[in-house]
Formats: sequence, C-alpha cells, structure tokens
Amino acid sequence: MPDRSFIGSWQNNAMPTQQPSSIRDFLYGTAWKEDRTPALVELALRMGFRGIDTANQRRHYFEAGVGQGLAAAYRAGIVTRADLFLQTKFTYQRGQDHRLPYDPAASVSIQVAQSMASSLEHLGTDHVDSFVLHGPSSGYGWTGEDAEVWEAMKKERDAGRTRLLGVSNVSLRHLEQMVTGASEAPGFVQNRCYARLGWDREVRLFCSERKIVYQGFSLLTANAEVLRHPVVTGLAARAKATPAQIVFAFARSVGMLPVTGTSDAEHMKQDLASTGLALSNDAVRAIEALAG
Ligand SMILES: NC(=O)c1ccc[n+]([C@@H]2O[C@H](COP(=O)([O-])OP(=O)(O)OC[C@H]3O[C@@H](n4cnc5c(N)ncnc54)[C@H](OP(=O)(O)O)[C@@H]3O)[C@@H](O)[C@H]2O)c1
Repeated sequence: MPDRSFIGSWQNNAMPTQQPSSIRDFLYGTAWKEDRTPALVELALRMGFRGIDTANQRRHYFEAGVGQGLAAAYRAGIVTRADLFLQTKFTYQRGQDHRLPYDPAASVSIQVAQSMASSLEHLGTDHVDSFVLHGPSSGYGWTGEDAEVWEAMKKERDAGRTRLLGVSNVSLRHLEQMVTGASEAPGFVQNRCYARLGWDREVRLFCSERKIVYQGFSLLTANAEVLRHPVVTGLAARAKATPAQIVFAFARSVGMLPVTGTSDAEHMKQDLASTGLALSNDAVRAIEALAG
C-alpha cells in the first residue's frame, strides 16, 4: 500500500479543465521565441496566463513581438492592460549583441533610462509592473556599477515607470552585499533553479526572510533528472498529473513564483492547471530531499 500522505491531489478532486480568468501566480517566459513571440504571447493570454516575463535584450528576447502579442490580445478582448503583470529587464552591454536598446557610450544610469523608454515603447504601455536587473556585472559580488544601475532603476520606479524592482542571476553573496550597501532590497529575485543546488535553498531563504518574491526559471530544463526520478514520476502517476506539473506544484509549495517557457498549447494548459495541484508536506519534503 502506498503511503497516502505522500500523494498529491487535485483541489476539488479533479484536474481543472477551465482556468480561472486571472492567474498571476505563474509567469509566461518569452525568451527564444523569435518570430513566434507575438502569436505565443497572445496564445498564452488566451490560455489564462496573466504574468509575462521579457527583457530588452534582443539577443534572446523579441520584446517588440511581446508588445505585438499584447496588442492583439487587447484587440481580441482577451485582456486589458490592467489585468496583466508585465516584467522586463535591463541587460548590461556584455549580455547583449549589436542590437542595443541604449547608447553604449552613455553612462549606465542613462542606459537604464533609455532601456526602460524603449521597453515601454515595445510593450505599448506607460509603465511595467516589474523592472529587473538581468544580471550583476560580476559573478563574484555586487559592484559599484551595479549600485549605480540600481539607483537608476529606483529613479524609474519613483517616476512611476515601474511598480516594482528585481534582480536576476544573483547569489546569496550578491544579495547580502547589495542590502548591506544601504541599498533597498529588491521586490523580486529571478534565478535559474537547480534541484542539485538545493533548489537554490540559500537564496530562497534570504528571500523568504525579507518578503522578496523568488521567481524560479528553467525549472524543467535545469532539472531533467528530477523529471525522470521515481519520486516525481510516482507522485505524478498517483495524482494523474505530469512530472512537469509536480515540479511546478512543488515550486509553488515552497513559495516560488514559477516561470514557464513552453511554446505548446497543451503544456500551457497543464502548467496553469498545476496551480490546482496540492502536494502533501511529505511529498514536498521528498522532492526537496532529491537535492544535493
Ligand atoms: N533571467 C534570466 O537570465 C533568464 C534566463 C533564462 C530564462 N528566463 C526566463 O524563464 C523562461 C523559461 O525558461 P526556460 O525556457 O528555460 O523554462 P522551462 O519552462 O524550464 O523550459 C521550457 C522547455 O521545457 C519543455 N517542456 C516540456 N514539458 C513542458 C511543460 N509541461 N511545461 C513547460 N515546458 C515544457 C518546453 O517544450 P515545449 O515548448 O514543447 O513545451 C521547452 O522546451 C524564459 O522564457 C525567460 O522568460 C530568464
């Protein structure tokens, strides 16, 4: 007999077929979608996503295409701007290709303002909901350049062009140095979340102690071994869910706001439906224990 406490269950005892109309507890990621970006953003909104993650980094994102998808969804009456959580990022020149959204000769403060102005134009809005530093300038710690960028981002927030601020691709060291440098803590941390690194346990703990919302990305692509693991496949079979749904339900259970990068309509539906999947405490502990 299986241990019943170990089994996840669908709330209301059934996998939802219809999505609630305003899910903001999942972000739809728009990286690497190139020419398919407008249609996929419109599809994601049609399927029920209300949070969109992008970046003003043409190398990996087609932000103007995100704006085209939003405009199509507005025209079709699927959503209004007020229904949405829009997040974009400022990316240092070293993370970009030649298609820069700012003057490379300008100071980083000016680059932040130019990047934001360009994002607002791409997205057809006068403000975003979250503006994220895509990655600090050094892997080793929070630098003076990062502090200058963060100050410029705060000015964008104070001018009403973003509601909230965030940082991405950060270590615990970056975050500790950032906040001890008398800098205001971010509202969001967005990190690639590896199970083998304890699902980024240290950074998640830092976030939960300060009410910072942790956004986990590449939850599937960074954790292929977890999706195949008997603990996860067993839970999936017993809950009549997919392993990907178990991973997203786990992420939510430990306080993450998950980001999904799917381009597939069925996967979009499954990802959103995972918000109705409740995992037992034992199941959450077992998945957490898969970590190194
Ligand atoms: N801050 C940063 O530096 C940074 C870096 C990377 C990504 N991100 C953000 O995170 C987003 C997601 O990243 P990711 O693409 O690595 O995420 P992911 O959701 O882990 O991976 C998506 C891949 O998994 C496949 N997949 C299979 N089953 C799936 C299911 N049920 N649901 C979703 N995907 C499924 C997808 O294929 P199908 O298309 O066939 O479903 C796709 O190839 C990006 O779009 C971007 O917005 C941020």
